[in-house]
Amino acid sequence: MAREQWGTRAGFILAAIGSAVGLGNIWRFPYVAYENGGGAFFLPYLFALLTAGIPLLIMEFTLGHKYRGSAPLSYARLNKKAEWIGWWQVAIAFVISTYYAVIIAWAIAYTYFAFNQSWGEDTGGFLMGEYLQRIDLSGGALGEVGSLVPGVFIPLLVVWAVTLGVLFKGVKRGIEMANRIFIPMLLVMFLLIVIRALTLEGAMVGLDAFFAPNWSEIMSPGVWVAAYGQIFFSLSIAFAIMITYSSYLGKKSDINNNAFITGFSNSSFELLAGIGVFAALGFMATASGVGVDEVASAGIGLAFVVFPEIINTFPGMNAFFGVLFFGSLVLAGLSSLISIVETFVAGIQDKFKVSRTKAVAFGGGLSALISLLFATQGGLFFLDTADYFINQFGVALAGLVSVIAVSWFIRKLPELQSHANGVSDFKTGLWWKVCLSIITPIVLGYMAIQNTITNITSNYEDYPTSLVVSWGWVVAIGAIVIGFVFAAFKWQKNDLDVPADSNDKGAEL
Ligand code: ALA
Repeated sequence: MAREQWGTRAGFILAAIGSAVGLGNIWRFPYVAYENGGGAFFLPYLFALLTAGIPLLIMEFTLGHKYRGSAPLSYARLNKKAEWIGWWQVAIAFVISTYYAVIIAWAIAYTYFAFNQSWGEDTGGFLMGEYLQRIDLSGGALGEVGSLVPGVFIPLLVVWAVTLGVLFKGVKRGIEMANRIFIPMLLVMFLLIVIRALTLEGAMVGLDAFFAPNWSEIMSPGVWVAAYGQIFFSLSIAFAIMITYSSYLGKKSDINNNAFITGFSNSSFELLAGIGVFAALGFMATASGVGVDEVASAGIGLAFVVFPEIINTFPGMNAFFGVLFFGSLVLAGLSSLISIVETFVAGIQDKFKVSRTKAVAFGGGLSALISLLFATQGGLFFLDTADYFINQFGVALAGLVSVIAVSWFIRKLPELQSHANGVSDFKTGLWWKVCLSIITPIVLGYMAIQNTITNITSNYEDYPTSLVVSWGWVVAIGAIVIGFVFAAFKWQKNDLDVPADSNDKGAEL
């Protein structure tokens, strides 16, 4: 059966950007940047983008385009011994999908609350209490599941209905169509917020705090770790997505150009989000007469505690801007979730020869079922732990292993480069190989060692060991085990033949 294809080049680029621009851009980036040196963070950030992000994106686009398969099939066609890396990345995507869906569900609920700011004055208390009904920590209940929270469960059903509904329809009529609607809408909505935020009183105070470079921070390894982590998650690399998406490209698609467009669009959106969020924070700090550092807070807190507070303080059209903000979080999240789930839909389809419908029903259904665990009263802690571990010991590690495998063990960088250059307008040179075979392994290798030491000597967030083991280590190591288990299943005859029209003839196009 012929592989599905994107309808147009723009369709593919929109889908790739839709995948990249997600929750990571809106709630993660602004705070990570602020906490890691403000303006000075841009140096490691740009370094990570140019030496790891875009080169790896080119590598993944090339793998998908040349080998025309999901991540496991593409890696298997590259070299049978590398197939497990593809499954490992798919398993990482599977884990991410289970909790990512839940954060989108919160955003849907908050879009609804925004209409009359029903989160009230004490937005922190509302999030943990009334909304998430978080388990009572005083009784040492950390790690307990509790019961299902209806306010999370109901929007979660909506998230899965939309995501699986889009995926049932396939690449062109489903994924491409959804992104054609979501991405322009997201851009308009987000631009409106940023423009409004910039015109608020105190906006400049926020931007000063955001951009003021703290050069002393830049020497700390943690800042570099944060920059690489941000780039990988944000660009959707090393968790099977970009290989899968590029496997649906036509033969003559430009690879290098598409990678640069995707990479720079994602970073521009990230910068825009940072500007919007900090302008709003500056406004709130000024309105309440405190410093920006007192109002800025991390991840979930920034979007679901501080933003509702900012919306409360807005001089007018509060509901409108509240709906715009949470609505854009929903759109950005959905277009990324679709790509995350597509990785295992494609993997199952390729290896087990089932229809798209069955693969979506089984793979998506299983992820939806597991996501219910994060919609419980204890879910917030499981989510936080799983997210941290799957990023540190999943995404970043899989990135490291894949570049080392491709450049040092399988030694296919020159072949991949000639394939990409053969179909691309502008060609990459020595820098691409140096980045992937030397710079990225050194930096990521150092990061991996540091991270392992830190996490073995102390528990993440001082959580109880049982929580960190079951939701952190077991999940991260489990993903590797799954990689080997799935790679052990046999392919059917001829499955691993490299498609005739995508071998290095591409280089002569
Ligand atoms: N790239 C997606 C994000 O930034 C996963 O959220």
